[in-house]
Amino acid sequence: MATAELAGKHLVLGMTGGIACYKIAELTRLLTKAGATVQVVMTEAATQFITPVTMQALSGRPVYTSQWDARVPNNMAHIDLSREADAIVIAPASTDFLAKLAHGMADDLLSTLCVARDCPLLVVPAMNRQMWQNPATQRNVTQLRADGIDVLGPDSGPQACGEVGDGRMLEAAATYEAIASFFSPKILSGRRVLLTAGPTFEPLDPVRGITNRSSGKMGFALARAAQQAGAEVHLVAGPVALETPWGVFREDVQTAQHMHDAVMRSVADADIFIGVAAVADWRVDHASEHKIKKTAERALPTFTFVENPDILAAVAKLPHPPFAVGFAAESGDLEVHGEEKRVRKNVPLLIGNLGPLTFGLDDNEVIMFEAGGATKLPRADKQTLARALIVEIAKRLPDTSLIR
Ligand code: C5P
Repeated sequence: MATAELAGKHLVLGMTGGIACYKIAELTRLLTKAGATVQVVMTEAATQFITPVTMQALSGRPVYTSQWDARVPNNMAHIDLSREADAIVIAPASTDFLAKLAHGMADDLLSTLCVARDCPLLVVPAMNRQMWQNPATQRNVTQLRADGIDVLGPDSGPQACGEVGDGRMLEAAATYEAIASFFSPKILSGRRVLLTAGPTFEPLDPVRGITNRSSGKMGFALARAAQQAGAEVHLVAGPVALETPWGVFREDVQTAQHMHDAVMRSVADADIFIGVAAVADWRVDHASEHKIKKTAERALPTFTFVENPDILAAVAKLPHPPFAVGFAAESGDLEVHGEEKRVRKNVPLLIGNLGPLTFGLDDNEVIMFEAGGATKLPRADKQTLARALIVEIAKRLPDTSLIR
């Protein structure tokens, strides 16, 4: 999901030899689509896996492969390239290149560039599982981390060689997310955020049930924005068809009761609770164990409903509640009901979805209700809005020392 975090950033994308070079074509597309400038530098080995012509076409800039490139008038590519960069990203980073970096070697353009840099360096390892587990590689990775280099991944799973294990490169989308995360201001660093998102599903029988309309997009966007702001994020999700945001711990639940129990198990550790889920207010008293048969003779089924626990109100009622944020979707008169709902739920901040209900859409417009009054945020896509809301929440947090 490419969004605006990287707009205007200038990245040197260093490629070393490995089959994962094919993923860099897609990564380059995601980065440039997000508005980043991508200057590709390839080692000789990388050019064996994908051509500089392909990378030039995707990045829209000439690719550098040699220290002795006659196009650079002062012959100082190793200095000039990193001086313009906001970061150097090495992807894929081979075993050999990690070893070189750990020892400060500088025997080709890319390694020299890394040693001569004055900007952050991120590496995205890609290698066979034995190469990754090799004690020398592990020593080198520990050294790189100690030197302040960010190591993104690796992933685990089937490898090009046919083996299965740790060492494969993160997928292009996950690499994009990790880079975007690196550039986000860490306004929630050290904070733990617990969120609920999506609908809940309350069974009537094993095949039927009642639910609320909610795509989960806003809650997932908030989880992603909180993670990128440096928080440790635990997302309790009802049934939704969405990918887990990178770096977020996700727990799937079905019913309001499950969601309530999951939240209550984890809330003691949370500094912030954001209840975005559209929790079903009622469930049937006794769901049928067997599928309710539809027969000509049988009368229409009737159900008795009981109330579900109000998760947000329960969190707000705790003796030491986290900073609790509610959401409200109304079909009318939000401006009247919003503040009334905030007071009833006893939360410091309640976010109202303005205008027509926006289930499943990517755009939204919200209004924030708090003791001091109501403030509208401009209409935007849900990810932009989520980032803005995280900034607003961070501004309102009490001192860490006072929270717990
Ligand atoms: O009362 P209403 O459902 O409109 O309130 C919405 C807010 O309360 C949301 O933040 C929602 O996640 C939360 N909520 C809850 N448990 C419920 C019902 C709503 O946490 N049973």
